Amino acid sequence: MTKEKILEALSNVQEPDLGKDLVTLNMIKDIEINGNDVSFTIVLTTPACPMKDMMGTASTNAIKLLVNKEANVKVNFTANTTTKRTDAKTILPKVKNIIAVVSGKGGVGKSTVAANLALALSQGGAKVGLMDADIYGPSVPIMFGVRGERPMMIDVGGEKPMIAPLERYGLKLISIGLLVDEKNAVVWRGPMASSAIKQFITDVFWDELDYLVIDMPPGTGDIHLTLMQTVPVTGAVIVTTPQDVALADAKKGIAMFGQAQLNVPIIGLVENMSYFTPAELPDNKYYIFGKDGGKRLADEYDLPFLGQIPLVQTIREGGDQGVPIMMSDDVITKKAFEGFAAHVVRSIAMRNANISGERIAETV
Ligand SMILES: Nc1ncnc2c1ncn2[C@@H]1O[C@H](COP(=O)(O)OP(=O)(O)OP(=O)(O)O)[C@@H](O)[C@H]1O
Ligand SMILES: [Mg+2]
Repeated sequence: MTKEKILEALSNVQEPDLGKDLVTLNMIKDIEINGNDVSFTIVLTTPACPMKDMMGTASTNAIKLLVNKEANVKVNFTANTTTKRTDAKTILPKVKNIIAVVSGKGGVGKSTVAANLALALSQGGAKVGLMDADIYGPSVPIMFGVRGERPMMIDVGGEKPMIAPLERYGLKLISIGLLVDEKNAVVWRGPMASSAIKQFITDVFWDELDYLVIDMPPGTGDIHLTLMQTVPVTGAVIVTTPQDVALADAKKGIAMFGQAQLNVPIIGLVENMSYFTPAELPDNKYYIFGKDGGKRLADEYDLPFLGQIPLVQTIREGGDQGVPIMMSDDVITKKAFEGFAAHVVRSIAMRNANISGERIAETV
């Protein structure tokens, strides 16, 4: 066995989403050979990569088949999350990917989806932050049980001290609700709200992050424009429920974020409250709000469909009690969020590699 032969064998293993082989993509490093033992490292495009095990097995098989059938192959993994930022990085300079969670309609579960997406990504091994930018109805303080906490000010060597995000469940998080008095904020309109949002974004210090998830306010108004023009968003995740009224509003969201002067790419669409499953009948699914409305909308607009999240009482309870469902042991519901998060990171990794989101291999 030689390094050259190992690389030659691995050049037959594809990264399923990116559609190129591991060697061409520069994903192989640290090849060590000792008799029949061979080890190397695959550098993933995201720590939360759902295709990791598949690539490991395919690599082992390729070496056994093409180089040495007696080989003891050890595959290690590391990740270097990709980014495609081209802005001047005056804002959030150390954040690689920024995901805005949006919807046209209120109450469809943006905050729930944003919080559990952030947790799923972090549990997959990524460095993740959650920013609650809902100036009129911040949810993160309640959802994470941090109401009334005051973030610390830190000196990071700039002109003035900055606000440090809180840490909870492995995430960095900040809510505009922790910084401004809600009773005041509800009466703010246009310029005042916009300047508060701008200050909120520029005054918080985010250290290195693979993903920053932004929980956006409902609707498609001035605040959204300000946010999208201030923050170099990688892409938007649109949340909808399956019923017609929500779908109609989701279309407004798609129209807004897709409009030329914003030009925020849409990562895809996730359907929340897709079906109800009672705790005592875990195999039953009741399509209370209609079936597959979100999926059809995604098809209609040619957007990646990122998943379906069931309507489950414990999701609501977890949100109210400050312990999001991703911190529970409800394996079935967690799986829905994990599958969704996996689609999000793949969609972003593909965009970062300049491949259209439509190609996502149907393996998750
Ligand atoms: N899949 C779900 N199953 C059960 N309850 C849910 C689910 N998704 C959201 N909820 C509950 O529905 C309510 C609204 O959800 P959430 O606050 O996440 O929506 P939102 O879109 O952020 O609302 P807003 O537009 O006000 O910001 C919350 O009580 C939440 O716990
Ligand atoms: Mg919300």
